[in-house]
This record gives sequence, C-alpha cells and structure tokens, in this order.
Amino acid sequence: SLYSETYRPQFHFSPKEKWLNDPNGMVYFKGEYHLFFQYHPQGTTWGPMHWGHAVSRDLIHWEELPIALYPDEHGAIFSGSAVVDWKNTSGFFEEGNGGLVAIYTSAGTYPDSDRPRQRQSLAYSFDHGRTWEKYEGNPVLSDEDITDYRDPKVFWHDGSGRWIMVLATGQTITIYTSPNLIDWEFASEFGQEEGAHSGVWECPDLFPLMVDGNPDYVKWVMLVSIGDNSDFKEGSRTQYFVGDFDGKTFINHHGADTLLWLDHGRDNYAGVSWSDIPEKDGRRICLGWMNNWRYANQVPTETWRGAMTLPRELTLISNADGVQLLQKPVSEISGIRKESKVTKAIEVTEEASLMDVNHELVEVNLAVTLKEAEEFSLTIHHSSDEKTSIRYNRINQLLTVDRTQSGEHAFSDSFAAFSECPVALMEDTLNLQLFLDSSSLEVFAQGGRGVLTNLIFPKGTNTTLSLTSRGGVSKVEELSVTELSSIWG
Ligand code: FRU
Repeated sequence: SLYSETYRPQFHFSPKEKWLNDPNGMVYFKGEYHLFFQYHPQGTTWGPMHWGHAVSRDLIHWEELPIALYPDEHGAIFSGSAVVDWKNTSGFFEEGNGGLVAIYTSAGTYPDSDRPRQRQSLAYSFDHGRTWEKYEGNPVLSDEDITDYRDPKVFWHDGSGRWIMVLATGQTITIYTSPNLIDWEFASEFGQEEGAHSGVWECPDLFPLMVDGNPDYVKWVMLVSIGDNSDFKEGSRTQYFVGDFDGKTFINHHGADTLLWLDHGRDNYAGVSWSDIPEKDGRRICLGWMNNWRYANQVPTETWRGAMTLPRELTLISNADGVQLLQKPVSEISGIRKESKVTKAIEVTEEASLMDVNHELVEVNLAVTLKEAEEFSLTIHHSSDEKTSIRYNRINQLLTVDRTQSGEHAFSDSFAAFSECPVALMEDTLNLQLFLDSSSLEVFAQGGRGVLTNLIFPKGTNTTLSLTSRGGVSKVEELSVTELSSIWG
C-alpha cells in the first residue's frame, strides 16, 4: 500500500506517485512550511514539469497537496522560489495585505524552432498557496542571448530596499534587483572565473549567515548546483562560495580556484533554503533533491521516483582555511525519535563487535577515539549479503561511505561507488551522526563539518551494526542507536 512500498522513504519527503526532482518555492507562511517541487504527474521519469506541493508544520511530517502550477502557453514550470510579499510591493494583493508570490522559470521553445527558451514568470496565491493565479504580464524577465537562463531565487534585501534575484545563466550567476518583483534590472554577474565549471550552473541561492554565531560578523553564502559531466565520477553536485554582498555584487572571499562542496555524498542536488523563516527562529534551513542526474531516471523504485534530503540547518564557522559551512539535521527530527539503546565505552579491535538493531529506520550517534588505530569502521549490515560501510582513516583523514555492496545497483554503472570526505579528528575523536532510511544513508561528521548523503537500495531491513579497528585499538566513547518512526501516519 501507499508509503509501504519497497525502498519507500519513511522519514523523507517523496511524492505519492510519479517523478520528483528539485525542491522549489520553499517558504514559511502562517505556520506552514511549503515545499513545492519539480514534478511530472504523467510519468516516473523526467518530463513536462509542474510544481507539486506539500506542506508541513514541523519540517518532518509532510502532507502532499494538489499540483500547484501547471505548464501553460509560456512552457513548462521549471525551478524557482517563493516569497511573502509582506508589503504588497507587487500590488497583487488587497491594500494593506501581503501574500505568497512564486517566481519560476517558464521553459518553452522559440516560435517555429526547437531552441529552448527560458524566461522568468510570476504567480500569486490568495489562499496560503493552495491555488495560484499566473501574472498576466508573464514572462517578467527574459534574455534572448542566453539559452540556460533559469532557477530564480528571490529574497528581500533590507539594506537596499529591493528584491534580489539570483539566476543561473549558463555557467555564471546573474544578479538582478527589483522594487516590485515585476520590473527587474541587471546588477552584476558572478562566477566567470570562480569555482567549478564542469557543467551547467543551476539552482543558485544567496543568503547571509553569522560566523561563529556572532551578529557582528556576517558573511554571505552562495550555493550553486552544477550539472552532470561524464568526465567526473561524482555526477551532479552542489558547490558553495562565502563572501560579501552589498545589494548588487557578490564578492567571493575564497580563492577563485578553491572548490567547496556542500555535500561529499552523491545524492544532494539543487538544494536551496527556505524563505521567510521568522526572525525569532532565525535559522537558515535548506534541503536538496536526494538524487543525482547521473542515474536519477533509473533508480529502482516503481510507482514514484525521487525524494528530498532531511531538512538541514546551515551555519558558518571560522577555521584555519577561512569560513566553512556546516549542516545539521533540523532539531525537529526529535519528533520521530523512539527508544534509544546507549552503549558506553567499548574497545574496538580487529575482531568485529556486532550489535543487533532490528529496525530499518535508525539514527546512530557515535563518538570514537583513534589514538593508534589507523582505521575505524562502522558497517551497517542490511542482510547477510548487503552492507554499507563507513570508514575513517586517521592517516589520510578521510571519511568514506562505501555503498558498493549496499544492495541493488545494476541500474547504473555509476551507482556502486564510494564517496569520500576530508574530516579532521577533534582531540583524537570522531563524532558521527547517521540517519538510515529505507533507501538512504545521511552521515554528519564532527557536528556537520563533513556531510555525506547517499542513496542505497538494500533488500534487507534487519539491520545489524559491526565495528572494527585496524592498526590498533579504537575506543568507542559513546554509541547510541535510536529507532525512528515513519512520518506516514
Ligand atoms: C536542476 C534542473 C533545473 C531546472 C529543473 C528542471 O536539477 O535542471 O536547472 O529548472 O531541474 O526540472
């Protein structure tokens, strides 16, 4: 039955049926978190895009609502954002009222040709996002010279009293400003010389964050997703930049050649952040599409295809290399925690120590010290012949998630692979937080300094953990295994 199919995520959002890709239009309004998404209601592979819709009151439990935006005479509805137009700058709402405005890409073709034409359009809602009116003056922004011209992310910038749009324009990000969401003016272009250019740039975001929680030290983060390029084993992935923004121009503070990846796993793409989170909350919350264009159309699910990552809080900390982005699962995840089994202090040797978990849905928190040990590993056995391993190598300071033997993988040559993330020990200790759902494993290391998000397709659901150490003893200081409940009622 619905939500109990093989591989169906139990605590991540996925559509009841059919194809999903990017998260879109994430906005908080009147007690609800909205999550729109790229949706193809006629098939389980990518096709003419609509905006699907779901809402949540806690970022964890989702209710899927009817489709929000359908293709029209301007084309399909590609990715974009939504804002609360509190001051009714657009004039779409009654005097003195604000409301939700969506800014998306209309993806069609030029008249009498197949050349793609991507332009930016608006829609607005009088009923908390349930139904939408398309603006009669659509499209509001176009540029005949640029073919890849899409994924507008819009936010209000207090300093300049203007709306700001960041738009993916080929392999750069173009910034536009507007007083009213309707009339847009070019401000600047970022990225010709910076970051990774192995594919088309997509789904940008730009937002300020305090560094080390200091309100007097604020930096701007730009997220940019990069499309698949077969020369790179990673497929599609998301990079980020840290710098300053003055209302017109973004200045990157890392070197032009510095590449910063949001996630070192294979399956976190097109992620952007929620708009209009109340000031008293103050968090910057982001989620991504938990998939990879390399094999997204082939992953082995039958009635639906595609899911989102857990929502994550983003923060910045300063370290020796400058400023670094951290990701942690939102604290609301506590709402689905059931019983925990806590194990204290175990000495781990070459002889694997085993623990039955017996649940399919688990969170594992682990602190381990590696003084002489060269490598510590935690293996999740899904069944007698399916396992996913997480290894930390103290010599090269790499955390590896190995899904080569996790389960089904024949649907793509690129799937059976391992992913690696540089992670430094802190006082000889490695802290890991893992979330295992029926077809994904999210690994947060050192409080969110290193993140690996990966799909896995194990048939077995009877989880056992084993711990091993190579080249010396590792000491597990703390290990807790918490059963999680399904969000699907
Ligand atoms: C990113 C993306 C966007 C585009 C959408 C189309 O995954 O390619 O650039 O708007 O998907 O579905």
